[in-house]
Amino acid sequence: MSDKVIIFDTTLRDGEQSPGASMTKDEKVRIARQLERLKVDVIEAGFAASSEGDFQAISAVAAAVKDSIVCSLARANDKDITRAADALKAAKAKRIHAFLATSPLHMAVKLRMSPEEVLEQAKRSIRFARNLADDVEFSAEDGYRSEMDFLCRVVEAVIKEGATTINIPDTVGYATPELYGEFIKTLRTRVPNSDKAVWSVHCHNDLGMAVANSLAGVKIGGARQIECTINGLGERAGNTALEEIVMALRTRQDYFDMVCGIDATQIVPASKLVSQITGFVVQPNKAVVGANAFAHTSGIHQDGILKNRDTYEIMRAEDVGWAANKIVLGKLSGRNAFKQRLQELGIAIEAEADLNEAFVRFKTLADQKSEIFDEDIIAIMSDSAAAEEGEFYKFISLSQHSETGERPKSKVTFRVGDKEASSEAEGNGPVDASLNAIEEIVKSGAEQLLYSVNAITSGTQSQGEVTVRLAKGGRIVNGVGTDPDIIAASAKAYLSALNKLHDPSQVKLNAQMTP
Ligand code: KIV
Ligand code: ZN
Repeated sequence: MSDKVIIFDTTLRDGEQSPGASMTKDEKVRIARQLERLKVDVIEAGFAASSEGDFQAISAVAAAVKDSIVCSLARANDKDITRAADALKAAKAKRIHAFLATSPLHMAVKLRMSPEEVLEQAKRSIRFARNLADDVEFSAEDGYRSEMDFLCRVVEAVIKEGATTINIPDTVGYATPELYGEFIKTLRTRVPNSDKAVWSVHCHNDLGMAVANSLAGVKIGGARQIECTINGLGERAGNTALEEIVMALRTRQDYFDMVCGIDATQIVPASKLVSQITGFVVQPNKAVVGANAFAHTSGIHQDGILKNRDTYEIMRAEDVGWAANKIVLGKLSGRNAFKQRLQELGIAIEAEADLNEAFVRFKTLADQKSEIFDEDIIAIMSDSAAAEEGEFYKFISLSQHSETGERPKSKVTFRVGDKEASSEAEGNGPVDASLNAIEEIVKSGAEQLLYSVNAITSGTQSQGEVTVRLAKGGRIVNGVGTDPDIIAASAKAYLSALNKLHDPSQVKLNAQMTP
């Protein structure tokens, strides 16, 4: 029997620490539901003590998720741990994750604590956490740059206090695969009670080796939990990419001899959702989830694939949830066909009113675009979910004029609360003119950090998906809009970001910044 590797997803915590990837409470719940469909074992939903917003988001995820363990990060002190336990109250299965730095540099410079003080605090915090939860993880922050003898003492002591998972992060992405694997192996060999806890790896990607290091931690080191994120989102150069870990374990089962419980067909929908919500576009040549990951353009490759797919394919696109990109519905498709396709795509609609609202969006799109692909349906459903989050500003219509040699003009009509407003402005281009027209009325004064356009499917018939990232008063928000007309998609994205700025309860001040 192959051993099981626990997949611990930290997209909502470490992933959110990517600058600009801050998520609202409702967005975290939407991603958590998708992670549950993906069947991840543990969802780290946030860092409860970092802000009231994150506390609320973790509570909402804990209440929504039924099949995965929900976890909150906490510094190794009573106050943070209590906050984590409170946020997790509604969870069916919960985990408290306490961390404390153990490297000489972090202890001396950041914590200003002696090794003995760190050891005592680690013990105390795990003892305290075990009074509040049975499932307690301890992370030795900057573990890979810690001294082996000291780290062994800390780990042995926290296992004695009841830590059920021991995580050894390569916090700064300094490790190399063999050395990291050997490091974990040495720890497991030298810590006398190492068999009383599950060993976990958590690798950052500063040198592009996070996935390789994590797999070495499992294969060489004997770890049985991998911490990872969708699309490898995370601090700086990111974290270990979940999709690459899962497909490496599956595709090279002959070598790893390990299984995980992930439903791989949910990988691409998860990747698209995270990319859409955070505005972090997936590079086309990204393994597994990049748009070109399964594209064969060279004639020799295409010929080989037609003769036998195994010539150039080690995985199947459909196994990781790539839709065949075929026309699935059109203008004449009815409500039942739409509902059935949603079910086939694994999109659950609870209330009839939500289905009706989504169907209206589908019909509107089908009037503009004759061929509706699975990707379009996923975008419609994302729009519907975003609309549920409350729309103070709502796009109605837009007309614009641009001609070579003239400054483009745009007129945008949109709802402001329960009133209709409309204004005109000029700009450098039609998009700029449209956003200026919106600003004429809203006067948000927000700084634009990002504007990106992405085609949802291939060809010029495709809908454009626009992401706008705005910053104001220390808050950063992402707005997404989709439409076959990219100017309209831009206006929708801008209004969506303004909606988030308008509703302060939705947005955290500096995601994951500890007070
Ligand atoms: O990278 C890291 O060390 C972390 C810990 C807090 C687990 O994210
Ligand atoms: Zn990390």
